[in-house]
Parts: sequence; structure tokens; C-alpha cells
Amino acid sequence: MHKSLSSSESKCCRVCVSLGIRSYSIIIGPNAMEEAVIADHIFGHRLMVVTNEIVERLYFETVVQNFKDFQVDKIVLPDGENIKTLEGLNVILSALLKGRHDRTTTLVALGGGVIGDVAGFAAAVYQRGINFLQVPTTLLAQVDSAVGGKTGVNHALGKNMIGASHQPSIVISDTMTLKTLPKREFAAGLSEVIKYGLIADKCFFDWIEDNLDGLLSHDSNLLTYAIRVSCQIKASIVSQDETEQGHRAILNFGHTFGHAIETFLQYRDWVHGEAISVGMLMAMRLSVLLGGISETDFERLKVMLKRCGLPTSPPRLMTVQDFNLNMMRDKKVMGGQLRLVILETFGLATVTAEYGASNLQKVLTINCVAQ
Ligand SMILES: NC(=O)c1ccc[n+]([C@@H]2O[C@H](COP(=O)([O-])OP(=O)(O)OC[C@H]3O[C@@H](n4cnc5c(N)ncnc54)[C@H](O)[C@@H]3O)[C@@H](O)[C@H]2O)c1
Ligand SMILES: [Zn+2]
Repeated sequence: MHKSLSSSESKCCRVCVSLGIRSYSIIIGPNAMEEAVIADHIFGHRLMVVTNEIVERLYFETVVQNFKDFQVDKIVLPDGENIKTLEGLNVILSALLKGRHDRTTTLVALGGGVIGDVAGFAAAVYQRGINFLQVPTTLLAQVDSAVGGKTGVNHALGKNMIGASHQPSIVISDTMTLKTLPKREFAAGLSEVIKYGLIADKCFFDWIEDNLDGLLSHDSNLLTYAIRVSCQIKASIVSQDETEQGHRAILNFGHTFGHAIETFLQYRDWVHGEAISVGMLMAMRLSVLLGGISETDFERLKVMLKRCGLPTSPPRLMTVQDFNLNMMRDKKVMGGQLRLVILETFGLATVTAEYGASNLQKVLTINCVAQ
């Protein structure tokens, strides 16, 4: 059961990601940067902070305050997904080499998922792997990309196609940083929070529904709690399947439809969480057709996404054919057969190829205005 929160609980909390000797903690809360005992996670005396021009302006000074005993260098990249490339990686590696950083340097990824992914990948490959800390500053990064150890960059022929698994030694999620996040980016992060309720914990979904106004107004206690539960759910799934052999795929609920939308839009105009909002509704509709979910629960999700300001239908010009074509590029396609994540019941997701081709076509037809 998820509790109602009083203002006296405005403290940081800790979630453990259990991965044997690579286990680490996520510290979550207002001013987590100040509260986290970072020194225990740094082995040498040199740090390299990787950030972008927007986040540097907002938070670099705060970070430096907490690293007083260390020699701190920084790399400030341009904003945007375009730097999540081999060229962006090369900028980081070159700066590390020019600064004569050795294997005792700790890299700090300060920013959203883009910075976390490219900086984490640099940490994975520089001198065959150096220590790194994640300081995620978007809601999406705090509940998703900073947890689980996936790092990497995009290639012109495919997103996230080059990468490595490299776990940080600590994740520090300061909820205060979310105050400066653009509204759309915040809502996009919320769609991943809602996803956790759908796939793993119906009571959490109920809790989000009851507390959505507070979350949307950045209530610190509520945000800390929502991030904590989201991280607990992701950490538990990742711990069972670190290398993505099976169960971890349920984290992709709504993502096959969502990625098809992102591909159609050539990764422009919509942010990831907006495409996932529509994708989750489509996966939910499929689950209704398969009998696991009621019409009422489908409507509850739709209302919730609308309250967040998220889209609930695909881009107007996107057709059934566009979906069919783009969905077959999904990495869950096996032997030419597309597998999808559906809900067996509310709060219990599964990956299956047994959804019935006609049901899938029905979902696409209902959702696409253009034919
Ligand atoms: N590694 C994983 O497991 C994983 C999981 C999900 C997504 N991802 C990746 O994450 C990336 C998306 O991450 P994102 O949504 O955080 O995008 P992002 O990193 O581009 O950040 C979104 C925008 O917010 C700005 N920003 C960041 N923090 C801010 C703050 N506190 N205040 C004001 N502005 C701020 C950024 O400069 C950027 O303009 C994608 O590349 C995606 O592939 C990775
Ligand atoms: Zn996602």
C-alpha cells in the first residue's frame, strides 16, 4: 500500500540496486547533492564533470561545492541529442587524454539522459573503464536512464546502437533540479513514472492518480516518493535481468508503438515521453482486446495522461502502414515475429507474440486518423 505523505518527511532516501559487487545506491531527495556522502565513492583525487551548456549554468557551482577536496575539471557539451554520437564521445575522451587523466579519475555525468548515456559510455571505455557517478537532472533520467547501467551513443543508422553496460558507483537524484526543467520535459518523465505503475504496481498507479496535482506542482515529498518507487521497480527488474535476456523487456511497455512514432517523426517535434504516452495507450488498448484490462482502466490511464498534458493519439498524418513498417524494426522482433509487451492484468506485464495479428491491426486502425 502506498502512503499519504506529510511535510515532515522532506528527507532524502536511498534505493539499492543489487548487482553483486557492482551494487550501488541511488540517493533521492531535495538537496541530495549536499546530503550524499560522495567522497566514499571517489577513489582518486581528480574528477571530470561532463555536462551541457544549460545544466552547467544552473548546477555546476553546486556540484563543485560538494567536491571541495578534489581537483575538478569540466567538459561542457552543446545541448541536445546530437552530441550523443561517436563525435561527442570523442570530445570527452580527447579532453580526458589532454588533461592526462589516468584510471583513478572519476567521471561525473551531470545532466539529463543524453549526458548520462554519452558520459557513462566514455567512462566505460576510457582506459578500459573508469569510475563514474550519475547526477541526473531530468525526471526521465532520475527514474529511468540513470538506473540500470545502459550507456551508449547513437549511430546515423540507428538510435542507441553503440554502447556498453557500465554501472555507476552512486546516483544522486536531487529533486530540486527539477524545478528548472521545462514543463514538457517534466511531463515526459511522468509518463515513465506512470509506466512503472502499469507494469508492476497497481497501488502505485492509484497513488499517482490521487497525488497527480501535487506531483505536477513539484511537491518535493511527493516527487521524492514517486522517484523512489520508480527506481525500486526498475532496480528490481534490472537485478533479475541485468543483461536483458528476457524479463527486462517489460520496461519497454508502450515503447514499440512509441518508437514507431519517434521514427515517423524522425526524432523531431515530440520528446520521447510524449511518444511513450501514446504508445502506452495503444499497448493498453491491445491489453483490453486480450481481456486483461477493463475499459474503465483504459479510460483512467487516458485521463491521467491528459492531466499531465501528454498526447493521447498519434501524429495526425501517421498511418497504419507507417506503424507496421516502423514497428518491425523493434529489437523485440525475433525470427520475423514481433513481440509486444502487454498487461496480463493491471500491474502485471508480459512479453508475448500471442496477441493476434488482427487485434494489433484493430489497435492501429482505431488510433490512426490517416489511412
Ligand atoms: N540508458 C538508459 O537506460 C536510457 C533510458 C531511457 C532513455 N535514455 C536516453 O535518455 C535520453 C533522453 O534523456 P532526457 O529526456 O533526460 O533528455 P535530455 O538529456 O536531452 O534533457 C532534456 C532537456 O532538458 C535540459 N535539462 C536537463 N536538466 C535540466 C534541468 N534540471 N533544468 C533545465 N533544463 C534541464 C537538457 O539540457 C535538455 O535540453 C535519450 O538519449 C534516451 O535514449 C537512456
Ligand atoms: Zn522510455
